[in-house]
Amino acid sequence: MSEPLLRAVGVRKSYGHTEVLGGIDLEVHKGQVVCLLGPSGAGKSTFLRCINHLETIDAGQIWVDGEPIGFRQRGGKLYELREREVARQRRDIGMVFQRFNLFAHRTALENVVEGPIRVLGVKPDEARKQGLELLDRVGLGQRGDAYPAQLSGGQQQRVAIARSLAMKPKLMLFDEPTSALDPELVGEVLEVMSTLAGEGMTMVVVTHEMSFAAEAADEVVFLADGAVVETGPPDQVLSAPKHERTRQFLARILA
Ligand SMILES: Nc1ncnc2c1ncn2[C@@H]1O[C@H](COP(=O)(O)OP(=O)(O)O)[C@@H](O)[C@H]1O
Ligand SMILES: [Mg+2]
Repeated sequence: MSEPLLRAVGVRKSYGHTEVLGGIDLEVHKGQVVCLLGPSGAGKSTFLRCINHLETIDAGQIWVDGEPIGFRQRGGKLYELREREVARQRRDIGMVFQRFNLFAHRTALENVVEGPIRVLGVKPDEARKQGLELLDRVGLGQRGDAYPAQLSGGQQQRVAIARSLAMKPKLMLFDEPTSALDPELVGEVLEVMSTLAGEGMTMVVVTHEMSFAAEAADEVVFLADGAVVETGPPDQVLSAPKHERTRQFLARILA
C-alpha cells in the first residue's frame, strides 16, 4: 500500500496535568474517509486541531503527505516551525467547524475568494470564476452575492465548505459540521460532504451522524478518554462493535 496521506503516531496532548490525548495512532490513505466517533470530551476536536497544528502536541508525530506537521527534524531533534511555515502547511488542510466561521461583512463569494486571492495570489477574476464554480458545486451558484446573515445555517456551512475547497486542500477535516444546524438542514450539508467523498477527497470527519458514517466512511474510529478504543469498517464497528464502550456509546446515540 502507498504511504498514507495522513499519519499520526503516538500523539499525546495534555492541558496542565490533564491528559486529553493519550497516544493516538491513525493512518488515512488518499481518497479515504475516516469518521471519528466518541463521547463528548473524548478528545476528538483536540486531535483534529493537532493535525493542523492549532495545538502543539506533547509527544508523537503527525505527517501529512510525508511532511511532519508543525515541526522540523534536524540532527535527531525536533524543532517547532515558525508561524509562517505552519501557515503554509495549513493551506493544504481544510477545516470546517461546527460553527460556520464566515466573515459576516462579506458576501458568500467574497468569503470563498478571500483565501485564494490573499494567500495563493490568484488573480481576482480567476478567483471569482473558480469561486462561482465552487459555490455551484455546493448548490449555491445563485447565492454568491448573499451575506451570511441572509443564508440559512445549512447554506452558510456549505459556503464554509466551498471556502475550504478554494484552497485546494489535500485533506479536509470536519469537526461536527452539522451539530449546530436545525435538523431539517443537516441533510443538505451531509449531501455535499458525501459528494466530496465520492469525488475522492481525503476526509477526517468527527460526527454523530451515524447514517453518514455508515454510508461514506471507509473506516470508523471510536475514541474515548483520549484513546482509540476500536477501529474498522463501518459495518463492523457500527453493527458489531467489539468493545462494550463502543456498544454503550452507539446505544445512546441511536436511542
Ligand atoms: N484549551 C483547553 N484547555 C483545557 N482543557 C481543554 C482545552 N480544550 C479541550 N480541553 C479538554 O480536553 C478534553 C477533550 O476535549 P475535546 O477535544 O473538545 O473533546 P471532544 O471534541 O471529543 O468533545 C475535554 O475534557 C476538554 O475539557
Ligand atoms: Mg469536539
